Amino acid sequence: MANDLLKGKKGIIFGALDERSIAWKVAERAHEEGAQFVLTNAPIALRMGKIKELGEKCGAEIIPADATNNEDLTQLFEKSMEILGGKVDFVLHSIGMSPNVRKKKHYTDPNYDFYHKTMDISAMSLHRVLSTAMKADAINEWGSVVALTYIAAQRVFPDYNDMADAKALLESITRSFGYHYGVAKKVRINTISQSPTPTTAGSGVKGFGDFLAYAEAMSPLGNADGGACADYVLSLFSDLTRYVTMQNLFHDGGFSFTGVSQKTMEMVGLGQDEG
Ligand SMILES: NC(=O)c1ccc[n+]([C@@H]2O[C@H](COP(=O)([O-])OP(=O)(O)OC[C@H]3O[C@@H](n4cnc5c(N)ncnc54)[C@H](O)[C@@H]3O)[C@@H](O)[C@H]2O)c1
Repeated sequence: MANDLLKGKKGIIFGALDERSIAWKVAERAHEEGAQFVLTNAPIALRMGKIKELGEKCGAEIIPADATNNEDLTQLFEKSMEILGGKVDFVLHSIGMSPNVRKKKHYTDPNYDFYHKTMDISAMSLHRVLSTAMKADAINEWGSVVALTYIAAQRVFPDYNDMADAKALLESITRSFGYHYGVAKKVRINTISQSPTPTTAGSGVKGFGDFLAYAEAMSPLGNADGGACADYVLSLFSDLTRYVTMQNLFHDGGFSFTGVSQKTMEMVGLGQDEG
């Protein structure tokens, strides 16, 4: 289903770890649609993941960068502009990690060093990416930045832990920076709030399998998968959405606006009452 939607566009894609990663699927689709891009991930993820395979498939160079490190990010933008022969048109921020989730700390009793790390990796990194790009004047006018988020920023999903707080901050940075970058350079910034998706980051959340089934039953269209998410990301990178900015856009099969569904009622042994 290639339509040259991103023909001539250049970009940077953060966060492809393995073929389940949302960023991996975005890279595959962006390549199909004619984009040229650089892939990046934290140095440790480059050692452990399979990103080289993706790079070869997409003809993309790989530049290591820890998204919590300003020097790494500065170098990333400089090298990307060298490799791509100019400024970029799109950036995907597909980064998330909570040491509290990993170490199974309860939300009410976290390790606060871990809490800092969650915020730094999962939210402040977007600010760092945008600030670095702005200083280097690395994004073309009408360029598009997309970050991935989850509805736990608005509503409580207890096992999402401190990632919920990180996503709330991520969405706030999207609005605040979206204002400043819009005024300065007409760069737009949005978050996509994605259905639960079986990836390394997603599966790390306690009870993920059950939750996936619950969300599937709650969503009139069912859960949106990673491939569908990639399609939505591409639409935001394209010129068809030039006036969309500072938004949190739900990509969840209708989950966010469904109060109750017949299927979830049946799951808890209800839903037969005809009265
Ligand atoms: N999977 C889901 O259910 C789901 C739902 C909604 C939103 N999201 C969000 O989608 C995004 C991508 O996650 P995913 O589900 O594809 O999982 P994933 O584990 O494949 O991707 C997360 C990526 O973050 C990278 N990362 C971690 N620390 C980093 C650092 N310091 N610097 C640079 N990169 C770093 C990892 O290496 C990995 O590539 C995340 O923001 C996640 O919160 C996921």
